[in-house]
Amino acid sequence: MSELPILSFDEPSRLGKVVSVDTSRVLIAVENAVLLPRAAVGSLVAIQGITAQEFLIGMTERVTRQLREQIAQPDPMAPTTLAMEVVPDDALRAVLLGTYRTIEGTVPNRFKRGADSFPQIDRDCFLIEGGNLQRFMGLLGKDLDEKQRLELGHFVIDGSAAAVANGDRFFQRHAAILGSTGSGKSCAVSLILERAHAREHANIVVFDMHGEYASLANPPARKGKPAPPPIASGFKIAGPGDLDAPPGNALFLPYWLLNREEMLSMILDRSDQNAPNQASRFTLHVRELKESTLNAEKKTDVKATFTVDSPIPYKLTDLLAKLKHDDTAKGIGAKGGEVKGEWEGRLTRFISRLEAKAEDRRYGFMFKPPEVALQYTWLAKQIVKLLAPSDEKRGIKVVDFSEVPSDVLPVVTGVFARLLYDVQFWMQPEKRTPFVFVCDEAHLYLPVREDADAVEKQALYSFERIAKEGRKYGVSLLVVTQRPSDVSRTILSQCNNFLILRLTNDQDQNVVHRLMPDSLAGVLDGLPLLDTGEALLLGDAILLPARIKLKFPAIEPLSQTRNFWQEWGEKAPDAASVVAAVETLRRQSRASGKIA
Ligand SMILES: Nc1ncnc2c1ncn2[C@@H]1O[C@H](COP(=O)(O)OP(=O)(O)OP(=O)(O)O)[C@@H](O)[C@H]1O
Ligand SMILES: [Mg+2]
Repeated sequence: MSELPILSFDEPSRLGKVVSVDTSRVLIAVENAVLLPRAAVGSLVAIQGITAQEFLIGMTERVTRQLREQIAQPDPMAPTTLAMEVVPDDALRAVLLGTYRTIEGTVPNRFKRGADSFPQIDRDCFLIEGGNLQRFMGLLGKDLDEKQRLELGHFVIDGSAAAVANGDRFFQRHAAILGSTGSGKSCAVSLILERAHAREHANIVVFDMHGEYASLANPPARKGKPAPPPIASGFKIAGPGDLDAPPGNALFLPYWLLNREEMLSMILDRSDQNAPNQASRFTLHVRELKESTLNAEKKTDVKATFTVDSPIPYKLTDLLAKLKHDDTAKGIGAKGGEVKGEWEGRLTRFISRLEAKAEDRRYGFMFKPPEVALQYTWLAKQIVKLLAPSDEKRGIKVVDFSEVPSDVLPVVTGVFARLLYDVQFWMQPEKRTPFVFVCDEAHLYLPVREDADAVEKQALYSFERIAKEGRKYGVSLLVVTQRPSDVSRTILSQCNNFLILRLTNDQDQNVVHRLMPDSLAGVLDGLPLLDTGEALLLGDAILLPARIKLKFPAIEPLSQTRNFWQEWGEKAPDAASVVAAVETLRRQSRASGKIA
């Protein structure tokens, strides 16, 4: 064995001794006063373990110096006078995070999470700094082979060591990126996508709420430099301006893809006394219409087992005709005369709500899909575009939801995720390839369950199911939000990795505290103080919770923080653009019309 231990301590790096231990924390009486100022919160300490080869590694949570009065050594010149002197009591509290062994079996330099033993009173403690720190941080990503490395930036406590997460673990059991507005979440997402793009067959669908990631599909040229190559393909949920001649990248989610509950959550008014009748007639007719499509397509095998929720096309006009027939048809009385029909007048409000939605161009992506979207084979083609595109280098798909009306946004994201998930669910297990949904601005469509309305509950149902079961089918979520306190706890608590950027709001910090083990409370206290682009990386993708500085992505999302003060000195507002914007607002579409 030629490899030397990476941690070796001498007397000057000895901090002091263990004086108190509880399950995960140790109190160290610092005897070496010179080291105390160098031991900041977040710095690492090593505590001699049971054997000479073992050190427990802890992270400093608190550093204190208390002054105490004591009787001074008697002065030989005046031995009878008792003098008092002030002496410092230096202490450091650390939380135990892992165990390092200089050699384990025959393997040198092993570090694992978790303390293998409890530290013993009076054991020596050392501060890990300088060469020790560099070598130790280098050790953290060392065991990862090339295929697993997800390099995110560098450690704040040692700028020379790359912060590398285990890419498999990061995605395996869902991850979350949390941080106040402008803390650098979208840039972190871009960086992760950039890293994923380097994998041959990355498969990621990004829910882009503000069109910020369009730059990844069409990178702009930067000052003096040519545009970098794209790393994603861009799609958009068709907006009002895309309906007449839909561009190739416009996505439609026709009404017939929605299951019964999703459709009813949008159309049915549950407070209406006729709501149960309306729901039951709707269900009956949709089922019949789907059945007649299957008949026409000669899909006898599907017909044997399909349900009202199966995504099978039917014409909305046919559904409306059937509902209107119910709503107007007269009944025949016992004596053969005409009486009030069983459903007569009971469906009027339901029909008008459905028609209002169907007429509104903002909902066109759902109710005014192009002719082809009524073909039986259309759905499979769409899903192939998203899950198995022919252009291998475009495995990352950015879907722009910015023109989707906010009242149906949860249903739309929910249907979208559910469909892809269901396809993966029903695929032969050995043919599945894993994919990730990046849910940016998750607070907009994954709210806390108690606050959710009928529409939002549908999205929650789809996403919570993925959060709970997705791991088994190779589907993972990367939840990104500035308001963790407004996001479903079920989803957040299923996340195993967290990249937490600056977080200033109390409520949000409390949520994060509750999601983490108690032992990390001290580490999390620093969240409001993080710089832009700085984050705590916690979870099983990294051996130690660490503060890292994220690398800036090669392609910046379109979300730059504006320099108000500078721009006010440089650029006058443009009246013509304001006029054009008013027209765009009326048109509800940026796509068509010329911009003045
Ligand atoms: N790693 C980084 N290093 C330096 N600057 C960064 C870094 N990441 C982000 N920034 C800067 O911070 C600003 C905001 O970043 P970003 O758009 O990623 O924030 P955000 O957290 O997504 O905000 P919001 O919640 O409002 O979407 C940008 O102007 C960007 O230039
Ligand atoms: Mg953002």
